[in-house]
Amino acid sequence: MGKILVIGSSNLDLIAKMERFPKDGETIKGQTFLQAMGGKGANQAVAANKTGSNVKFVTSLGNDIYGKSILKTFNDQGINMSSSLLVDNVPTGTAMIWVDSKGENSIVIIPGANDMLTSDYIVALEDEIEKSDLIMLQMEIPYNTVQTICKIAHKKGSKVMLNVAPATKLDKSVLEAVHVLVVNETEAEVVASAKIADIGEEAVAEKLNSLGVKNVVLTMGVKGCLFKNEEKYFHIPAFEVESVDTTAAGDTFCGALAAGISNNKSWEDALRFATAAAALCVTKMGAQPAIPSEKEITEFIKENISV
Ligand code: RIB
Repeated sequence: MGKILVIGSSNLDLIAKMERFPKDGETIKGQTFLQAMGGKGANQAVAANKTGSNVKFVTSLGNDIYGKSILKTFNDQGINMSSSLLVDNVPTGTAMIWVDSKGENSIVIIPGANDMLTSDYIVALEDEIEKSDLIMLQMEIPYNTVQTICKIAHKKGSKVMLNVAPATKLDKSVLEAVHVLVVNETEAEVVASAKIADIGEEAVAEKLNSLGVKNVVLTMGVKGCLFKNEEKYFHIPAFEVESVDTTAAGDTFCGALAAGISNNKSWEDALRFATAAAALCVTKMGAQPAIPSEKEITEFIKENISV
């Protein structure tokens, strides 16, 4: 079983489902409210754990009821939390999530304790970084922490999978350390400084390769995803499902992809597995409550084998 080290954010998600988003200055009635565990790092850790890998998660939580509850829930799921932090006098990160009738979302994050995951703390984890099959990162912790992890991983020869969400410009020290870059269309354009509408998906992915990233995965929602490295360029179509809430679809994709890579699946198989995981995720409300297991994904692929 592959050993994955996820270093990233944890949030308490406050999710409101509504017919449509309110306009400026408008008050509307929503339909349902859900409070659930989220955060891109945490969601990816849960997804990798549920899809067949051995996960250690390093995160920073407030020493409050939410932080303590997240810590317990993750420990109970078998995720190693021994290097995570419970920080006094800072609240656990929070995300306000609006979901409309098409399942599209709008998210505001209050980082709280996530900002306490500093470079100084990471330096003590050098051995962990060296020992892992794959280090999985996102952009909801301080940028210089991501830089420090990438520099250590590069020096030690460890593989990094970086999901550039939320979209952020990256410098050379990060790009040259990345084994797999997972980006949606907006994120790809920000990192590549190029527009898909001007030069096309393949040229944008090629630009990312030329910046130092070995393997590029471009996720495109209902259009599926593209893969590009020096040897291959191919497309995996999306599965057709009824979308209830797209929250954490990208995180589920990343976690399942990481599990596939660390368990030595081919790029094609790992990406098909990740695409199926994301499809199942959008059929349910919430982030972590919607993440499917390895068994559910495998059965779903068998049932939809003609896709
Ligand atoms: O990607 C979805 C996640 O983004 C939510 O769980 C929310 O916490 C924000 O981090």
